[in-house]
Amino acid sequence: MRGAISPPGDKSISHRAAMIAAVARGKTRIGNFATGADCASTLSVLGELGVSISRDGSAVTITGAGLDGLRSPAVELDCGNSGTTMRLMAGLLAGQPWLSVLTGDPSLTRRPMARVIEPLRLMGADVSSNDGRPPLAITGRALRAIEYELPVASAQVKSCVLLAGMFASGRTTVVETVPTRDHTERLLKHFGADISVLPGPGRTRISVCRSRLDAADLEVPGDISTAAFFLAAAACLPGSDLTIGPVVANPTRTAIIDILERTGADIACRPADVPGPEPAMFVRVRSGGELSSGPLVISGQTTAAVIDEIAVLAVLGTQLKEGLEVRDAAELRVKETDRIRAIVANLRRMGADAEEFDDGFRVKRSALLGAEIEPFGDHRIAMAFAVAGLLARGSTSILDAGCVDVSFPAFFDTLRSVVSS
Ligand code: S3P
Repeated sequence: MRGAISPPGDKSISHRAAMIAAVARGKTRIGNFATGADCASTLSVLGELGVSISRDGSAVTITGAGLDGLRSPAVELDCGNSGTTMRLMAGLLAGQPWLSVLTGDPSLTRRPMARVIEPLRLMGADVSSNDGRPPLAITGRALRAIEYELPVASAQVKSCVLLAGMFASGRTTVVETVPTRDHTERLLKHFGADISVLPGPGRTRISVCRSRLDAADLEVPGDISTAAFFLAAAACLPGSDLTIGPVVANPTRTAIIDILERTGADIACRPADVPGPEPAMFVRVRSGGELSSGPLVISGQTTAAVIDEIAVLAVLGTQLKEGLEVRDAAELRVKETDRIRAIVANLRRMGADAEEFDDGFRVKRSALLGAEIEPFGDHRIAMAFAVAGLLARGSTSILDAGCVDVSFPAFFDTLRSVVSS
């Protein structure tokens, strides 16, 4: 794998930039907006709420409606496959004085929403659901501020409460005991919100209150979770020399780099200048000798820090001398599909020695054989097993491979452009 690629704009940052720009005053230009279907769902939901949005190449310009300017939607709000759209929009809508209904595709309608319903109800919103799952019917109310300690390590839940806090009376505080991506905090600050972040021993307190937001342009650095598929592949494929960037260098997202380094991959990072609230970098990977790390166990806070990269790490695990074990990853069971089941099933289809646990899995070093892969409609499973296909003997086919469109429609073309035959 040789050459240079620039992955599309980061998905998490793009969702948030669009939502916050939508309730700011004035026009915000968001450069390098994510190209996948998930962030398109966020834009179309915002459009239904009366926000004016235009796209010019990869840039999106949003004319903010102001904090009180969203319009009652005429239709149900379709979040597609995107959990981030649904959970963050729930926070934004909880303070709007009308009924909104958030729905999505069959995968999204199976995913747990009680984690956002509970804090929003505590704030005074009226939220009903299908037994804790979508669709969500939210009747906004005058919200009151709460102090809320996150019961699950979830940036989506944190962001939902912080966004609702922008519409509440008083100061809303979220207490986080396991660090999660902090893009909402950075972006709220970028748009001028009154937000404070107080790190403490073992817990961080983040608080916001209703405050004016003003348009603020930014460029979205590339998505490191998308880059991870290429980084892992280049680390494993002999003779590789691949540079990826700019990608987001926010420390809440870069644990994947540390793990790749621990496996012995030859990685060099250098800063990139991307205007906006997020640090960025270029990452160069060269494949050296055999990858090894002693027994690699990913657990606890590290699991939370690489939750979107576990599928490709599982594939990398098949190349490690002493394999890989992942624990504390039960959250993977409620992603776009049950990723633990999907990872183990597909590893086994490729002949790998893999064992499933309630909260993770173990895979031993295995010679992979080409196989037919079932991604269960999950973009990250499809991309991870495309990487496995490159490492395998024989040919691999991925069923329903179009599901990569959720985060990276150009995935296969990009892969083809850097893999030498
Ligand atoms: C995301 C947070 C994570 C992650 C998801 C995107 C976000 O989910 O897995 O892909 O943008 O906030 P959780 O908040 O459920 O952990």
